[in-house]
Amino acid sequence: MNVFANITDIRRERWADPSLTWGLVPTMGYLHEGHLSLVRRARQENDRVGVSIFVNPTQFNDPKDLEKYPRDPARDLSLLEKEGVDLVWTPTEEIAYPPGYQTYVQVEEVTKVLEGAARPGHFRGVTTVVAKLFNVFQPHRAYFGQKDAQQAVVIKQMVRDLNFNLEIVVCPIVREPDGLAMSSRNTLLSPEARQQATCLYRALSAAKAAFEAGERSADRLRALMEQVIAEASLARVDYVSVAHPETLQELDRVDDHALLSMAVFVDGIRLIDNMVV
Ligand code: PAJ
Repeated sequence: MNVFANITDIRRERWADPSLTWGLVPTMGYLHEGHLSLVRRARQENDRVGVSIFVNPTQFNDPKDLEKYPRDPARDLSLLEKEGVDLVWTPTEEIAYPPGYQTYVQVEEVTKVLEGAARPGHFRGVTTVVAKLFNVFQPHRAYFGQKDAQQAVVIKQMVRDLNFNLEIVVCPIVREPDGLAMSSRNTLLSPEARQQATCLYRALSAAKAAFEAGERSADRLRALMEQVIAEASLARVDYVSVAHPETLQELDRVDDHALLSMAVFVDGIRLIDNMVV
């Protein structure tokens, strides 16, 4: 496995044999089974697998959140080595955003709601760094998790709009045995908060069960999710949503498909989760 910070080294390895197909898995490190599920899928579908590890400062709207974001590069590299990854890009902030940097990618409508509304500027940072990653690796396929459902929608929109020549593959959410969606942020939870953090999964499951039992009112589904969250004493809802899975616009009625999603502060740690019904 080759690990490089410099872009010229990445490009040299990427183009060493132009006949090979490449899959790219963008990450911010502190890897868990969710990330590794993307790596395994990429491993199955491509001749070569590239991974990026970069805690991208432009997508953090809160400097304190950036500061406390967990990091363990040595452990990350040993996990990736075991998965048979070929190439890892670990840029420094100066390499990704050299002095004088001034270009940003902004997707408009689908970034105005949900995470985009709650975290101003977040998706501008995500699409900017992902566009850079696509240009550095020029992969055939790039792998993203359904965990960040809106991120996947936003990146697909960017790829369509800017004619990036690659396929976006979205992989299912990997959960802990008690239902909590795996996240690098879970390690920031106190033991009691970690227990209560299952309220997101329980709320989504309750709404999904209600939908399957015939409930079609989006308001009643939202109320049901809020009610489950309210029962967890350390949890505070940021938003709960019942939205169209592609436009991400809030629904009045759920006729066929909907994205149920939420952001919840559990003891001050912001967690997100979703289910498609
Ligand atoms: P990060 O949070 O490290 O996540 C990297 C990828 O792993 C994302 O596509 C995310 O959706 C996926 N992922 C995280 N937890 C998952 C889980 N429990 N199950 C399945 N997939 C999961 O998302 C980012 O980094 C950044 O925004 C990035 C795209 C790298 C741009 O900086």
